Amino acid sequence: MSLSQNRCALLGDMHWARRIGFRAMDKLRIVGGQRLEGAVTISGAKNAALPQIAAALLSPYPLELTNLPGVTDVANMLGVVGLHGAVVTRSAHAATIDTGKAVSKETSYDTVRKMRATVLVLGPLLARFGHARVSLPGGCAIGARPVDMHVAALAALGAEIAIEGGLIVAAAPNGLRGARIVLSSPSVGATETAMMAATTAKGETEILNAAREPEVADLAACLNAMGARIEGAGTHRILIEGGSSWRAATHDIIPDRIEAGTYAVAAAITGGQLELTHARLEHMASVVQLLEATGVKIWPGDRGLIVSRGGPLKAADVTTEPYPGFPTDLQAQFMALMCCAEGASLLRETIFENRFMHVPELMRLGANIKLQGTMALVRGGEKLRGAQVMATDLRASVSLVLAALVSEGETTINRVYHLDRGYEQLDRKLRLCGAEIERISA
Ligand code: EPZ
Repeated sequence: MSLSQNRCALLGDMHWARRIGFRAMDKLRIVGGQRLEGAVTISGAKNAALPQIAAALLSPYPLELTNLPGVTDVANMLGVVGLHGAVVTRSAHAATIDTGKAVSKETSYDTVRKMRATVLVLGPLLARFGHARVSLPGGCAIGARPVDMHVAALAALGAEIAIEGGLIVAAAPNGLRGARIVLSSPSVGATETAMMAATTAKGETEILNAAREPEVADLAACLNAMGARIEGAGTHRILIEGGSSWRAATHDIIPDRIEAGTYAVAAAITGGQLELTHARLEHMASVVQLLEATGVKIWPGDRGLIVSRGGPLKAADVTTEPYPGFPTDLQAQFMALMCCAEGASLLRETIFENRFMHVPELMRLGANIKLQGTMALVRGGEKLRGAQVMATDLRASVSLVLAALVSEGETTINRVYHLDRGYEQLDRKLRLCGAEIERISA
């Protein structure tokens, strides 16, 4: 693909991103006090879409993905596979990725540092082309985010791997071979890398201590539609029969359980009632159980989940855990809720080492929070008051939006591009349910 074609691929994505409203330095202005009521359409899961876009590189036949969320991380990942020669045809919520003419090129630091999930192209490129050069992602706002387990899994499958000048340089000139891979911890990304790479290995691969997230199971369903033979995804033991015979496929992405949990908190924090269209109860058991412990009522509706809070909000403790435990991606949102509960709530973050970036900003709104290592003690019940606050990472940003919905007066949230990475039209979805929120172009 020529440089100009590369630029077109990226410019095309920037154009598409702008067209659906992503402008980097926009702000959100929120006036608190509205009770949310109505229905919210839950989009496709970002964290299911990203590995499936990477998986398209495994097969020379087209992969059509439907129910794609309109978020910038998806636009970016489609741009990444475009850089490797994939031809991407897209609409707002679907894309066909044709990698018939794809090649394994270097995936630069500049590309990977913008979105850590780009590292997910490593396994597919190595598995299909026998070689791959992908920059180490480096850290991000919530932690060091190493990829040692991804590298170890590929080495177990017979890859020769070296780190050269910040690049992961992987080679398997004679192809990969099936192996038993025991993950030291149930890493979502490492499970996905191992599963994707094993689809072309000679023989069977067994992954033990695999991540059990629904997004891992959805990736396996997508790979099986493409011609792979994977069993056990969604459990701690996954079996992959290598030597896949690929075919053209289409796959509908599961709804986003983290987006659904976020809007569940929006209903709870405003004392309102929302129907979360397409949300799946079976993906949110730990979230539903914890919210019910705070006095929130949740039941299945005609089109999804109904979340309602009429009575007092009670404080509850939570520890984040790998699925099916309470997800780290909802910790910040739950903290915002506990700022409004009667009593003290202890939140323990066990997945990432620096995932309390929302705390100083919530305190600017008047929250009473004490941090101690991996623990945050929230003393709820203080009246929150609007202020200027700064978004830092995706989930921390949305916790500020939730707190602003119940803060007295006006709150301005800067750098909302963090939100656009993982929430489709957040301001519009909230406004349709009664929130006083507007997006201000910088
Ligand atoms: C996925 O990240 C999600 N991202 C994250 O969502 C989510 O928070 C995380 O899983 C945990 O559920 C995508 O799916 C694109 P991990 P991932 O590998 O795969 C350490 C969001 O907000 N680790 O399960 O990177 C790692 O540092 C994002 O949507 C290693 O040490 O998560 C972390 O402490 C944020 N070595 C822990 O494991 C490795 O090789 C869990 O990471 C890999 C991970």
